[in-house]
Amino acid sequence: MSSTPTARGMTDPLDTPVPAMRPLLAMRSVSKLFSNGTQALADVSLTVRSGEFVSLLGPSGCGKSTALRIIAGLGGVTTGSIDWPSTRINPNGKPESDISFVFQEPTLLPWRNVFENVYLPLQLKGISRRAAAAVVDDALKTVGLTDFRQAYPRELSGGMKMRVSIARAMVTRPKLLLMDEPFASLDEITRQKLNDDVLTLWAETGVSVIFVTHSVFESAYLSTRIVVMKARPGRIHEDFEVNRGAVRDEEFRTSESYRSTCERVSHSLQNAMHGESVRGKALHGAGAH
Ligand SMILES: Nc1ncnc2c1ncn2[C@@H]1O[C@H](COP(=O)(O)OP(=O)(O)OP(=O)(O)O)[C@@H](O)[C@H]1O
Ligand SMILES: [Mg+2]
Repeated sequence: MSSTPTARGMTDPLDTPVPAMRPLLAMRSVSKLFSNGTQALADVSLTVRSGEFVSLLGPSGCGKSTALRIIAGLGGVTTGSIDWPSTRINPNGKPESDISFVFQEPTLLPWRNVFENVYLPLQLKGISRRAAAAVVDDALKTVGLTDFRQAYPRELSGGMKMRVSIARAMVTRPKLLLMDEPFASLDEITRQKLNDDVLTLWAETGVSVIFVTHSVFESAYLSTRIVVMKARPGRIHEDFEVNRGAVRDEEFRTSESYRSTCERVSHSLQNAMHGESVRGKALHGAGAH
């Protein structure tokens, strides 16, 4: 198999020959029952391989954020397990510094400039500013913010703040990047630019991504795999591969491959929300653009 360039001429990590490898993450029959009686997840099994870009899509309340939080170790499971077959586990039973989380809000510290915000995770690991400088500058370069390293969050646009948040997540060189609707509050053009930035990062670093979105179009553009969830209780409705080796550029957005992925995801989402009866009407009002 030959390597195929993806976003901005980058190579799709999934399109290079990979020896049979153990999954990065395996959720096995995970359920989550909150103390107020809400069954947020029921029997969720999800395996993520190294280099995959997995989008999680589903109606509000179907447990997407709960699933990410559990994967990040921010919440426990009620039954089932999470395995990290190829990762070191620390004495607390958590995977060691291999995960980063990007939330919907950039959550920057207003009193620290861009450099200092991105440096924070390394500082918390006890790495000196001097030792971290090259890595931080590298992360800033990747998200196009080198010229803003001295700027404070109040001086940045919403898209730039989100770029800082992504650089901060990547500075520890995680194996798995969890993103929970990171671009939901941004305008469409900024969102498309950031989608390309994330694809570039993914292609350059080989990081695996689990990306929560409500956007059919965003998931169809970014993913190698799409997992559609259902609500009450939250569970997996469909899990399928998309776009293998495709070049994601402006042309891709108008390609037949992208259009058919949008259609498939949209059908699946409609079925997850309303059942099979709406099949065929699903893309109504949601034409690929
Ligand atoms: N800490 C909590 N205590 C009790 N119930 C919770 C808690 N967190 C989430 N829930 C419930 O669990 C269910 C799943 O919530 P979750 O936030 O994971 O959904 P989601 O798919 O991320 O939704 P959205 O798309 O709106 O962000 C919801 O019914 C929610 O009310
Ligand atoms: Mg959520």
